[in-house]
Amino acid sequence: MTEAGLNLPPERIPRHIAIIMDGNGRWAKKRGLPRIFGHRQGTENLRRIIRACVTFGVQYLTIYAFSTENWGRPQEELSGLMQLFHEAFANEIGELIREGVKIQHIGQREGMGADLLEKIDQAVERSKDNRRLILSVGLNYGGRNEIMHAVRKIVAAGVPAEAITEKTISANLFTAGTPDPDLVIRTSGEYRVSNFLIWQSAYAEWDFPETLWPDFGAEELRASIERYAKRDRRFGKLSENNP
Ligand code: FPP
Repeated sequence: MTEAGLNLPPERIPRHIAIIMDGNGRWAKKRGLPRIFGHRQGTENLRRIIRACVTFGVQYLTIYAFSTENWGRPQEELSGLMQLFHEAFANEIGELIREGVKIQHIGQREGMGADLLEKIDQAVERSKDNRRLILSVGLNYGGRNEIMHAVRKIVAAGVPAEAITEKTISANLFTAGTPDPDLVIRTSGEYRVSNFLIWQSAYAEWDFPETLWPDFGAEELRASIERYAKRDRRFGKLSENNP
């Protein structure tokens, strides 16, 4: 870890950052390389960003690694991505766990390979007592799919309709127990939500840096947090400074 911490009051540092890691394909294309090289470089970068979050005092990081819609990509890219996830969970997760990172999976289990699920489950189990950074990995994740699963669970539990509150829904999402994100970042200059944390990000601040994900390093993250720190979050009310 080389980067210095943030020079901000603690209440201005987002407790939970969520990231749509976009632009791997374009990063590779610009270099005349196959898309999977971009995803590999994106994985390298993820390592940097996880460590930067620890340095900056961010407590929760949620990443969108693979969406329920990503299955529509060409077979070659899908196998490359699955291979990458396997490698990451087999080889790299151990170090993160030793550094105090708690791993959580968000997404639909059905449709994912049994091998990958087993590796994920092991990482979740091995890291369950860690608290330094809570890393939620969105794999086979979609916001609408998540809400559908929550509704199914609530109905299956026999909760009476009038007893269902917003809290009931939050508590039945894949993200149950994790606070809502304060800041959502989508890299690469795309301005879309793409089915990511659609319930949880209702009051999040959004940041859309132009940088492609493999190049979005610790200093870009610092800049994004500094932009966030200048925002005036009102949660639908009036400003504290201008009541
Ligand atoms: C979006 O870029 C990125 C993805 C669909 C994959 C993100 C995955 C990683 C960064 C791998 C790291 C994750 C783990 C858990 C090891 P894109 O392909 O849509 O880029 P483009 O818009 O430029 O085509």
